Amino acid sequence: MGYNELIFKLEDVSYSYLNHRTALFSINLEIYRGESIAIIGPNGSGKTTLLKLLDGLIFPSKGSIYAFGKKLTEKTFDDLNFNVFFRKNVVLLFQDVNAQLFSPTVEDEITFGLIQLGLEERMIKEKVQEIGELFRISHLLNLSPYQLSEGEKKKVALASLLIIDPDVILLDEPTNGLDPRSVRELLDFIVRFRSEGKTVITATHDLKIIPSIADKVYVLGENKKIIREGTYESIIQDQNFLVEANLL
Ligand SMILES: Nc1ncnc2c1ncn2[C@@H]1O[C@H](COP(=O)(O)OP(=O)(O)O)[C@@H](O)[C@H]1O
Ligand SMILES: [Mg+2]
Repeated sequence: MGYNELIFKLEDVSYSYLNHRTALFSINLEIYRGESIAIIGPNGSGKTTLLKLLDGLIFPSKGSIYAFGKKLTEKTFDDLNFNVFFRKNVVLLFQDVNAQLFSPTVEDEITFGLIQLGLEERMIKEKVQEIGELFRISHLLNLSPYQLSEGEKKKVALASLLIIDPDVILLDEPTNGLDPRSVRELLDFIVRFRSEGKTVITATHDLKIIPSIADKVYVLGENKKIIREGTYESIIQDQNFLVEANLL
């Protein structure tokens, strides 16, 4: 895989939910392997919609989205090889962690992806131990996800995604609802993925976390378009712009 490998390319992508107003309007975007990107914007500006498009959960109403050189359509995902390849390599941490967790126990939750990939039991045991230690959740394995705190739930959800070692990690408001220590832990993980060369794309309206999570920032406006892109420094210095964009 080349250094400057293009992972995602969006060409004039718009999206409307059934019979609703446009949720995302005319997005052009290129994301390369190893980049870390923040998508910021006020509530309703289309951040979650954009991440769902990148995760192949929904498809453009207009325009095209390419991932790993393939155009993403419902049909593309009918190809089992591509489907498995894509699901192994691109994961999304939902904004609402309760919508992500569905298994009776934490252990079932974090092994689900490995079982889907057909790993043998011995390997699964090893990986569970490894990820349990990394995320410091080994003591939670036999609990139900619903018995956990919000911070623990986020860690379990993230562990269940990362155990399959994806290349691209999409995070939707990952620090929302977390106490300060959980936020710090989460940011440490993100810093770690970045240093491992993973492509990390985070939607957030928490401007403070941007230096930890991204080197490039896209701003979605209330008009559901990208109204600005640049470095954290260039955007954070422009207070007038931030107020105008309803971010400050
Ligand atoms: N399931 C849905 N059905 C209809 N409209 C939706 C749905 N989800 C989001 N929207 C609308 O799409 C727009 C973008 O929403 P969203 O992507 O959730 O923004 P953000 O994540 O930035 O808050 C908003 O106007 C929102 O009301
Ligand atoms: Mg959202």
